[in-house]
Amino acid sequence: MEIKVDLFSDTGTRPSQAMREFMAGAEVGDEQLFEDPSVNLLNEMVAELLGKEEAVYLPSGLMANQISFAVHCNPGDEIIMDETAHPIHYEGGAAAVISGATIRGLAGKRGIYTVEQVEEAIRSKDYHDPQTCLVSIEQTSNLGGGTVWPLELINEITELARERGLATHMDGARLMNAVAATGVSAADYARNFDSVWIDLSKGLGAPVGSCLAGSSDFIEKARYWKQRLGGAMRQAGIIAAGGIYALEHNVDRLKEDNNNARKLALGLAGIDGIKIETDSVETNIVLFEIEGKTAGQFTEMLLQEGVRMSVLGKYVRAVTHLDVDEMGINYALQAVEKVLA
Ligand SMILES: Cc1ncc(COP(=O)(O)O)c(C=O)c1O
Repeated sequence: MEIKVDLFSDTGTRPSQAMREFMAGAEVGDEQLFEDPSVNLLNEMVAELLGKEEAVYLPSGLMANQISFAVHCNPGDEIIMDETAHPIHYEGGAAAVISGATIRGLAGKRGIYTVEQVEEAIRSKDYHDPQTCLVSIEQTSNLGGGTVWPLELINEITELARERGLATHMDGARLMNAVAATGVSAADYARNFDSVWIDLSKGLGAPVGSCLAGSSDFIEKARYWKQRLGGAMRQAGIIAAGGIYALEHNVDRLKEDNNNARKLALGLAGIDGIKIETDSVETNIVLFEIEGKTAGQFTEMLLQEGVRMSVLGKYVRAVTHLDVDEMGINYALQAVEKVLA
C-alpha cells in the first residue's frame, strides 16, 4: 500500500528541491581543519540563535547528547533527567559506554519534572553515593507528546542546579517547535544552560546533523570528544548547507506543523472510539488511545488506508512535519474515521 500521509515521525522529512540545489552549490573545505566555510557559517548561525559563544556541527543529535555528558561528567557520576528522556530509551545505553555516567530518571508529567523532584534527586556528598553531575531537560519532550517546558520552570531548575554546583544541558531536538508554539526565543530558552543543541534533521527538514552550542571552553572540550568518537568530518559543508537552508527558510513554518497537529487532535477528538487530551497537544506530536483495539492493530489498519502513524506503548503517535500539509491532515482524519466506522 502506498503511503499517502506519513505521520510516523518528523525524522522522515526529506530535503526539498530548493534545499538540494542550495546544498549542491555549497562551498566546502576540510571540516576537521576548520576550513569548511559552510560548516563554519552554520556554527556561527546556531551560536547566535542560541545566544552562546560557539557551536559545533555534529552528525547526529545522539552524539550531541553524549558528547555533552562526556564533557560534564566523570565515570560513575549521575545525570538527572526525566524517565522518558531520549538517552534512557533510544541511545543504546551510550552514556554507560562513552561518559561512564549513570542516569537517574525522574517520574515527571508528560516528560516534565518539577524543581522539588530535582531537589530530592540531587545526591549528598557521600562516598556511598554516585555524585550528581548534570541536570538535563528535553525541549520539547518527545515521549511526553511534544510538551513544552515553561521558561519559568526552566529558570527555577537551572538556578537550583547552579546553586548546587551542577552543570545543565538542554536536548533541543525540537526546541524550535517550542519557539514556534510560545514565541519565547531560542536564546531565552537556552540562556541558563551550559550546553544546548538543536536538530537540523527533524522538523527543520535538513537531511543530516545537529549543532551543539555552549561557551568556548565547553565547545573546545566537545571538539575533542567529536574527534574521539569519529564525528569529525571532511567536506561536510555539503550536508551542513542543508542546515543553513533550514534555518533561513524552515523555522517560521514550524508553526504550520504545530497548527496541523492541533487540527489533527481536534478532529480526532470528534471521532467515536478515540481518547485524546487535546489540551496536551502543544507542538507537533499527537498521542491518543483507541477504545477496543490495541495501538498496533489500529496502526496496521490505518496503513491499509495509506496513513502511517506509530505505536508508543498504549498510545498511537502522530507527528506533523513539512511533508504533511493541511490536506494531508484531512485525509488522515477521514482514514481514521473509516477504520473505526
Ligand atoms: C528528544 C530527542 N533527542 C535526541 C534525538 C536523537 O537525534 P538524532 O536522531 O539526530 O540522533 C531524538 C531523535 O529522535 C530526539 O527525539
